[in-house]
Amino acid sequence: MTEKEYDKALEAHKSSSPPSAPAWDPREWGWLRWVIILLGVGIFATTIVVPLKVIRMTKYPSYSRLGYSLTDAYEGEGFFELFNYGNGTEETHGFTNYVTKEGAKWSNLTYATSDQAIVRVLSKDITGTAGRPTVKILSKQRYTHGLFIFDIRHVPYGCGTWPAIWLSDTDQGVWPEHGEIDVIEAVNQGDRGAQFTLHTTDGCNMSVKRKQTGKTLSYDCLNSTNYNMGCAVRGAPNSYGEKLNSNGGGVYAVEWRTAGIRLWFFPRDQIPANIEFGKPDPSEWGIATADFPSTRCDINSHFKNHRIIINISLCGDWAGAPPVYTKEYSCPMKCAEYVGSTPEAFEDAYWAINSIKVYTAPNS
Ligand SMILES: *[C@@H]1O[C@H](CO)[C@@H](O)[C@H](O)[C@H]1NC(C)=O
Ligand SMILES: *[C@@H]1O[C@H](CO)[C@@H](O)[C@H](O)[C@H]1NC(C)=O
Ligand SMILES: *[C@@H]1O[C@H](CO)[C@@H](O)[C@H](O)[C@H]1NC(C)=O
Ligand SMILES: *[C@@H]1O[C@H](CO)[C@@H](O)[C@H](O)[C@H]1NC(C)=O
Ligand SMILES: *[C@@H]1O[C@H](CO)[C@@H](O)[C@H](O)[C@H]1NC(C)=O
Repeated sequence: MTEKEYDKALEAHKSSSPPSAPAWDPREWGWLRWVIILLGVGIFATTIVVPLKVIRMTKYPSYSRLGYSLTDAYEGEGFFELFNYGNGTEETHGFTNYVTKEGAKWSNLTYATSDQAIVRVLSKDITGTAGRPTVKILSKQRYTHGLFIFDIRHVPYGCGTWPAIWLSDTDQGVWPEHGEIDVIEAVNQGDRGAQFTLHTTDGCNMSVKRKQTGKTLSYDCLNSTNYNMGCAVRGAPNSYGEKLNSNGGGVYAVEWRTAGIRLWFFPRDQIPANIEFGKPDPSEWGIATADFPSTRCDINSHFKNHRIIINISLCGDWAGAPPVYTKEYSCPMKCAEYVGSTPEAFEDAYWAINSIKVYTAPNS
């Protein structure tokens, strides 16, 4: 090649290939490449991501039948001997003065006969600003797993009340490491139905397949989400308040096992025969009211060592908060003012408990 030919060739080469852009620069991609890339993303999404989501939404634990037998029965005149009494005030800022065992006996706030146990709020005039006398009791026995049958004849309700029957380990500094299972909880008139809720540390997500008749209110059980709202489910309106009481109460049953935590509410006239006969078998009860499966929540690392806790709180962060107290339930005055000045309003604010029975099963 002569020098001239070489220059010519060089010139030709330069003009035919402009400085080429790097292949990864999307500004230089042609439409064909875009089509191929978009197709690829589409295929990836439909073949991998969507099925993963579908698998997650269809995954469900096996709640196989367990053989339960009676471990503890809380009933009759000895009912309160099986509990300790909480005293003083509480962390949820209520207008509440939890009395000691002696105080409760003296003012007849806890009272047991052969067929029922009463837990009530004092319905007499009070003085001072310490709050209205009421009761909080904690079972001496602790539980991990079990089938808990709460046979309730009457629930407390009315403006300013925040009653609950729940399972938790509230020892100093432990909560919520060992979790909390709220079995029956409501505020004020409670006429929208009882709420069933779990509270945990991080790692319990209920955005999974569930089999329940109740209405899901929130999915994340982590205590710090949404002011400790927990993952909550609400039962039908007949599961709490005046409606429940006029129907003679009913049974709330909680099954707590590795596969998950399920909760049923049965009105008095729909209690399954196997409960009445003392041989409860959840595998025959049909769809639960609230279902908290273990799919995205390791039940055994989040829940342990619980006591049964019964309390009637007054006002506080939920019941007494202005939008809930005044707007949602149309209650009068300010909560603490009403609770302090209207003793007769608390005559109906009592639990009447027929019995609490705890059954356990091997390999649960
Ligand atoms: C109140 O409870 C605390 C903690 O359990 C206990 O130390 C204290 O003695 C109780 N007070 C009364 C008056 O019983
Ligand atoms: C205590 O309460 C029970 C249950 O409501 C009632 O039957 C009993 O008469 C009361 N006892 C006293 C001393 O007031
Ligand atoms: C019952 O006691 C607990 C612990 O002191 C408190 O956080 C709660 O507000 C009380 N009432 C209810 C309904 O849980
Ligand atoms: C729970 O799962 C849902 C669905 O996968 C997700 O959108 C949500 O962010 C999760 N919440 C937490 C706290 O992990
Ligand atoms: C949640 O629990 C942590 C301890 O794990 C505690 O420090 C925090 O105050 C709790 N938050 C609420 C809103 O209860």
